[in-house]
Amino acid sequence: MQKRAAAERAVSLVNFDQIIGIGSGSTVAEFIRLLAPHAARIPGVVVASKASEAIAVESGLRVVELNDVAPPETYFDGADEIEPGFAMIKGGGAALTREKIIASASKRFVCMVDESKLVAALGAFPLPVEVIPMARTFVSHQLQLLGGTPDLRGAASTDNGNILIDVSGLKLLDPKGFEDKVNSIPGVVCNGIFAHRRADELIIAGESVRHLTQPQAMW
Ligand code: 5RP
Repeated sequence: MQKRAAAERAVSLVNFDQIIGIGSGSTVAEFIRLLAPHAARIPGVVVASKASEAIAVESGLRVVELNDVAPPETYFDGADEIEPGFAMIKGGGAALTREKIIASASKRFVCMVDESKLVAALGAFPLPVEVIPMARTFVSHQLQLLGGTPDLRGAASTDNGNILIDVSGLKLLDPKGFEDKVNSIPGVVCNGIFAHRRADELIIAGESVRHLTQPQAMW
């Protein structure tokens, strides 16, 4: 219910005459379905996963490639955790790499969450890291050296044919610095810290729905 409420508020922010960037996950699935009545007007959607693509097609939306269109004005996506400065952990749904690409290409990032995703500091949710399969052991060891406990999610679990390692036990007091550190390990494709490309706006669904247009000092 709360995810649906967050998605409804997000739809009220959509400019239906422009290409829309769309992430992945269950909140996003609600969002895509709510776009269906407006499908004839929307020139195209750029989506971050095969799952989102299937729902978009089912909803009558025109799915276009990021390479073929001007950068989306606005990107809509959920998060696994978000802290008051609007840095996030994403990738619980395995789509982190494409999500980060489209989010970074878009001018504005609107994040939609229910209250359970709000945290004072990132790190309780295991950090998803997308890795080239042959680098699995090496990257796991490097992640251990950074203080984490790596756990393989399953073979070829991303849309890009790579594996995912979920890292628990991390203290992410410097999200930007840690995002850079993990990205610098050879074999890492992308990690789920969205601190450099954080959200610009946040929709929070709880007892009521709030739309925050700038980072906060605390929740
Ligand atoms: C997928 C994601 C999702 O945004 C995140 O997992 C939240 O999903 P949900 O809306 O189902 O709670 O990062 O890779």
